[in-house]
Amino acid sequence: MGSATARLYAHEGSDVCIADVSGERAEAVAKEIVDAGGRATSTVLDVSQSASWENAVSATEEALGHLDIMVNLSGSNYRVSFDDQTEEMWRRMIDVNLTGCFLGIKAVVPAMRRTGRGVILHVGSLASIRQGAGSPAYGVSKIGLVALTRSAARAYAGDKIRCVLISPSHVDTNFIRNDSEHSPNSWETSIDNPENYERRKASTPQGRLCEPEDIAKTFLFAATEEAAMITGSMITVDGGAGM
Ligand SMILES: NC(=O)c1ccc[n+]([C@@H]2O[C@H](COP(=O)([O-])OP(=O)(O)OC[C@H]3O[C@@H](n4cnc5c(N)ncnc54)[C@H](O)[C@@H]3O)[C@@H](O)[C@H]2O)c1
Repeated sequence: MGSATARLYAHEGSDVCIADVSGERAEAVAKEIVDAGGRATSTVLDVSQSASWENAVSATEEALGHLDIMVNLSGSNYRVSFDDQTEEMWRRMIDVNLTGCFLGIKAVVPAMRRTGRGVILHVGSLASIRQGAGSPAYGVSKIGLVALTRSAARAYAGDKIRCVLISPSHVDTNFIRNDSEHSPNSWETSIDNPENYERRKASTPQGRLCEPEDIAKTFLFAATEEAAMITGSMITVDGGAGM
């Protein structure tokens, strides 16, 4: 979703800095955008570390001149039962999904004040609406973002900074398909398993999973002047799955 959003922003004329814990992945997306005629740079960012945020904001301002939109599409999930969720998993998910957004706000607000305006966009989930029996930290972090988004929206409205939470349902990405360090999957959980794929599809009234591009379009809209009065709210992009 992060790369689809960066591509769409660049296509619409934004200069973008792609930041990821994997510098290689960020650089590859930036190169693709530059090769297509856009303006992009990249930097390494571990969202759970405030010093890393400071570096990423400085790198963005240095390369692009100013920062006025921050899209935080990082995240982590360990799909295990409550019994099997370890303290280490809990801390990692809270650190990345929730504290990562808090630290991001703290880091970008001074830069947005220098610009004179700003938009901060977070990614929620169906777990921002309802929580399952498994992976308690995921649900806690994602519903926590509802409060964090409102809190930031209230705190920074006077600085012309909006903050919005965008909550997708099932999106066909690495997050639910592949086995990665930040989002481990096995045959039991991956959408490579047709049973899982069909289950997610069947729970979506629109009859298909979301594609990253569906979500990117909402991340674009929420940053535009057309969304000037949207702040502190959650927009669901879920094909009706959250009903
Ligand atoms: N795919 C879905 O079905 C779905 C649905 C709802 C919400 N989400 C949310 O979307 C986000 C994931 O996006 P995606 O689906 O494009 O998955 P993805 O796995 O393709 O992307 C997640 C990105 O986050 C990065 N990341 C992980 N830990 C990081 C850290 N500490 N610092 C910086 N970057 C870090 C990863 O390197 C990766 O590039 C998560 O917040 C997830 O909860 C996903």
